[in-house]
Amino acid sequence: MKKAFIKSYGCQMNVYDSGRMADVVAEQGYAETAVADDADLVILNTCHIREKAAEKVYSELGRLRELKRERAEGGRETTIVVAGCVAQAEGREIIRRAPVVDAVVGPGSYHRLPDLIRDAQARRKGVDAEFDQVEKFASLPRPDAARIRARGVSAFVTVQEGCDKFCSFCVVPYTRGAELSRPASAILDEAQALLDGGIREITLIGQNVNAYHGEGPDGRTWSLAALIAAVAALSGVRRIRYTTSHPRDMSDDLLRAHAELPALMPYLHLPVQAGADRVLKAMNRRHTADEYRRLIDRIRAARPDIALSSDFIVGFPGETDAEFEDTLRLAAEIGFAASFSFKYSPRPGTPAADIAAQVPEPVMNERLQRLQAQLEADRQAFNRATVGRVLDVLIEKPGRHPGQLNGKTPYLQQVQVSGAVAQPGEVVAVRVTGTAPNSLFAEAVGNSAAPAALVAAA
Ligand code: SAH
Ligand code: SF4
Ligand code: F3S
Repeated sequence: MKKAFIKSYGCQMNVYDSGRMADVVAEQGYAETAVADDADLVILNTCHIREKAAEKVYSELGRLRELKRERAEGGRETTIVVAGCVAQAEGREIIRRAPVVDAVVGPGSYHRLPDLIRDAQARRKGVDAEFDQVEKFASLPRPDAARIRARGVSAFVTVQEGCDKFCSFCVVPYTRGAELSRPASAILDEAQALLDGGIREITLIGQNVNAYHGEGPDGRTWSLAALIAAVAALSGVRRIRYTTSHPRDMSDDLLRAHAELPALMPYLHLPVQAGADRVLKAMNRRHTADEYRRLIDRIRAARPDIALSSDFIVGFPGETDAEFEDTLRLAAEIGFAASFSFKYSPRPGTPAADIAAQVPEPVMNERLQRLQAQLEADRQAFNRATVGRVLDVLIEKPGRHPGQLNGKTPYLQQVQVSGAVAQPGEVVAVRVTGTAPNSLFAEAVGNSAAPAALVAAA
């Protein structure tokens, strides 16, 4: 049997897409392998969000050139495909810069991978960078049950692709195209297939997921809140999450969903990027720092125990020391449970890349260090605050030591659970007993009740 090696860079959207590409090439007789050396087909699913992310692709292609040569000496062919956001942004330029590449396919057209692979094997290098998401989702094969189980107890489902926000620093509107929502019925079918295959936690994903406005089975336009309510009614579902949201699209019905739906986890990734109004405006984020603060107040009023996480960019062009202090202050006030922070990276074709006042590298480094130290302290404080609490843990796999199980709290904390007898996919109540840098320790306090949907299905 032929083998395919698929490597993902970047966000959850790419993780999902890599899974779907595995489904597509499985129909062509390729089994997935985790070892590049064994692969007849290598797909790099790339990310273009920052310069470093894009450069990784070319260094990996350098290594693959050697691999392809060695395999050729042993009489074995290797087809190399570049997919994802670098493929979309650079197209044929990739083949010019790295002739080892046989085909280039963007995130909107990977359902046509079989054509590209066939052409490549006939020595015709193809580039497909059309945005054909409607056709793509309609023609993707159903996820295979055995492969679903192998992926664990959690799965992503893309509900929305692309972005119309045009933050001035960001390539996503160009690499993923205009915002497009999948019809709710297709999402629910896919989610049910995953649940039937043993998945217990569904994370609905999109670049701008809370802008979801897809066609409902009733012919009306559904919001993300309506979609989440429908997923919560599927049999077998224990946990629902969604990511990534934009502050401008946190609608009232979504806040209500957090108050009313027990399966919707009390965790929200809501990137703020910066804390100074002038910077937020130059970023075209379309909200002020105070509007973000008030929104957080409303979210916490709806779901008092919700944990929040964010993304930050330091050194946006023209950012002053005082403006950076505003970011530190905003972050400290909110107290994020987790965060991702980055140095601004100018991206070709985005408006911010043309702003003259780029912040010098040493200044960016210093700001990033200060911000990360503070965010890390907040994260540790959040974790310590859960010590002593009883929390539900979704069991994922056996733990590090015999008798231990590994799982996640509602707040996405990794936990080592002692004293529980449970299978992956079960939810057990635990008391948190301590913290390590990247996980918690906990003791089981007995199995928690199954939600109504599970009882009904049993
Ligand atoms: N759709 C999401 C995430 C987009 S990309 C959102 O709206 O927030 C993930 C994160 O990468 C962004 O939140 C931002 O913090 C960061 N990012 C995007 N473009 C960047 C750039 N040019 N330089 C540095 N960080 C960037
Ligand atoms: Fe990029 Fe802004 Fe869209 Fe997020 S909302 S994907 S940061 S343009
Ligand atoms: Fe990267 Fe594309 Fe995701 S640029 S962050 S892989 S949408």
